[in-house]
Amino acid sequence: MSSRNASLPGRSPADVDLSVAVGTLRFRNPILAASGTFGYGLEFAHLVDLEKLGGVVTKGLSWEPISGAPAPRVLPTPSGMLNAIGLQNVGVRAFVAQKLPLLRKFSVPVIANVFGDCQEDYLEVIRALEDAEGLAGYELNISCPNVKRGGLQFGGDPAMASELVGSAKRAANRRPLWVKLSPLVADIGVMARAVEAEGADALTVANTYPAMAIDHRTGRSLLGNPTGGLSGPAIRPITLRLVWEVAKVVKIPVVALGGVETASDVLDYLAVGAAAVQVGTASFADPRASERLVGEVSSACFTSNIFNINELRGHFRPEIG
Ligand SMILES: Cc1cc2nc3c(=O)[nH]c(=O)nc-3n(C[C@H](O)[C@H](O)[C@H](O)COP(=O)(O)O)c2cc1C
Repeated sequence: MSSRNASLPGRSPADVDLSVAVGTLRFRNPILAASGTFGYGLEFAHLVDLEKLGGVVTKGLSWEPISGAPAPRVLPTPSGMLNAIGLQNVGVRAFVAQKLPLLRKFSVPVIANVFGDCQEDYLEVIRALEDAEGLAGYELNISCPNVKRGGLQFGGDPAMASELVGSAKRAANRRPLWVKLSPLVADIGVMARAVEAEGADALTVANTYPAMAIDHRTGRSLLGNPTGGLSGPAIRPITLRLVWEVAKVVKIPVVALGGVETASDVLDYLAVGAAAVQVGTASFADPRASERLVGEVSSACFTSNIFNINELRGHFRPEIG
């Protein structure tokens, strides 16, 4: 993005068109709150104007409620954070009965993040959501161990991921299905193409990186679990490359996330081909980060004389370094 002077008379950052499309879904801007870092959206409604956001992705939903991992569940690390929440959630039926009716009152697209520990669990969650009103789409978190197949991650094996996504797509008749990829694969392009072939409507890139922190004196983990997931600015450069690798090889849209904190981070992800971004860990340091970023992205575009954010999409030119 060049830095042209935007002092055009009578125009302001409010004139920048931030709206983006992710497949058939339209968002008022490309900033969505990320799964697991924004509760069910409702918890943030007194701090953030939800209707200013592009969208909200819910906490991961399973068929049965899950009480989660023992404390401590989060740990600050240099430039990031480790978490081992253990996928705590109220379960999809309680979400539909208690949370969704309140969330529907806000004019903001809601994407339900779905997970399970076997294929049937995933499908049950989708079926329960299919009967509910007030959702824009689904995001399948495939970074979960399949208990029926010895704990292997769905997201680590293209054959297992394909089978899951194919059946999830058949169950998700009413709404688009996004698939959230694991970053921990040898070639993310292979995984991306595999799930695209099964009908994924968009890809979310990516989840946290498996990591750990211990105290060698006590011989114990600093989390309640032996390992956790690393997120925040520490992972941003790695994920930026993954987003670029994925955007190059698929036709479906890519939604990027990993360490987004500033307007530049958002625009970098768009420049390597993302259609939208999600904000995760930044909401822990500043619960209003996502709403703040909407304003900052508008100002950044205005300063560079960009009045339609889509002009920046895919702006990265690898051939010039
Ligand atoms: C506390 C916490 C809980 C999370 N829970 C979920 C979840 O339930 N489902 C999911 O797909 N991703 C979950 N994530 C991953 C985030 O959505 C995101 O992919 C990751 O943190 C990278 O983005 P960030 O660096 O902006 O946080 C969680 C992350 C954190 C930090």
